[in-house]
Amino acid sequence: MHEMMRHKEDFQSVELLNDYEQFKRKLFRRTGLDLNCYKFDQTYRRIWNMVERAQFERFTDYFDYLQENERHMRSFVDRLAINVSELFRNPEQFQVLRTRALPMLLKQKRALKIWSAGCSYGAEAYSLAILLNEIAPEHNHSILGTDIDQSALERALEGYFDQADMKNTPVELRLRYFRECKLNQKTAYEASPLLRKYLRFETHNLLSDRFNHDFDLIVCRNVVIYFSDQAKEQVFRDFYTALNSGGYLFVGSSERIFNYRAMGFTNPDAFFYYKP
Ligand SMILES: C[S@@+](CC[C@H](N)C(=O)[O-])C[C@H]1O[C@@H](n2cnc3c(N)ncnc32)[C@H](O)[C@@H]1O
Repeated sequence: MHEMMRHKEDFQSVELLNDYEQFKRKLFRRTGLDLNCYKFDQTYRRIWNMVERAQFERFTDYFDYLQENERHMRSFVDRLAINVSELFRNPEQFQVLRTRALPMLLKQKRALKIWSAGCSYGAEAYSLAILLNEIAPEHNHSILGTDIDQSALERALEGYFDQADMKNTPVELRLRYFRECKLNQKTAYEASPLLRKYLRFETHNLLSDRFNHDFDLIVCRNVVIYFSDQAKEQVFRDFYTALNSGGYLFVGSSERIFNYRAMGFTNPDAFFYYKP
């Protein structure tokens, strides 16, 4: 209630807030995307910018425009997603994965089942494939990359990265796993079939779809930062259930789980949660 009152002052009017509530309900009915699970301020502002840019004055008029055409609706959902990524994002954390978590997992099991949840255009999933191929290439690992953004997943399937994506990738790994080429007259790097054989990409909404199970490692980084506290907690609990005993959850730099003990995790390294 407190938050709503503040927004009544911050934002244009009560009427517009009601209009936003209606927009959320209609969007949920039409697409299954529940904006109540996202942080209010940020989401409201971003959608209002889209409404203004499309030259509408009400959220619900903008909704009518979106639902006229499947392409409009899809591009709205895609734009709502923030897709920023890169290979080996926060390399020091990938180093912990490589030297501590993956060797522990590989002691228990030869072929690992991994989920990159909210994988955007796949940089994270390809980084995982590189590490596995470096340290245990002889086994049949599987890496599932999922996201709500279909366009990002189409890019992930294509497996092309640009120079900015490569900034944390050691040159020898880049040379081993990517072929340099030109894409729209810019230097690009095409992922090798050595990596693709581990990877599969699927659409999945962390806030409404069922979770698969039996994962040894779940990597979900820089995704839940946009979720409300309640939604975040539910997703972490669902990850716990989706992990095998002895499995790890690897989160992003600003996503510590404060009540991890109550969920059943231990916290052996920063950003890594372990299911005993
Ligand atoms: C900033 S990117 C993070 C990419 C990658 N994990 C990384 O850390 O580099 C956030 C991704 O979360 C996805 N996302 C947002 N809400 C989601 C949801 N409810 N279910 C699945 N993915 C979601 C977005 O589409 C976006 O691709």
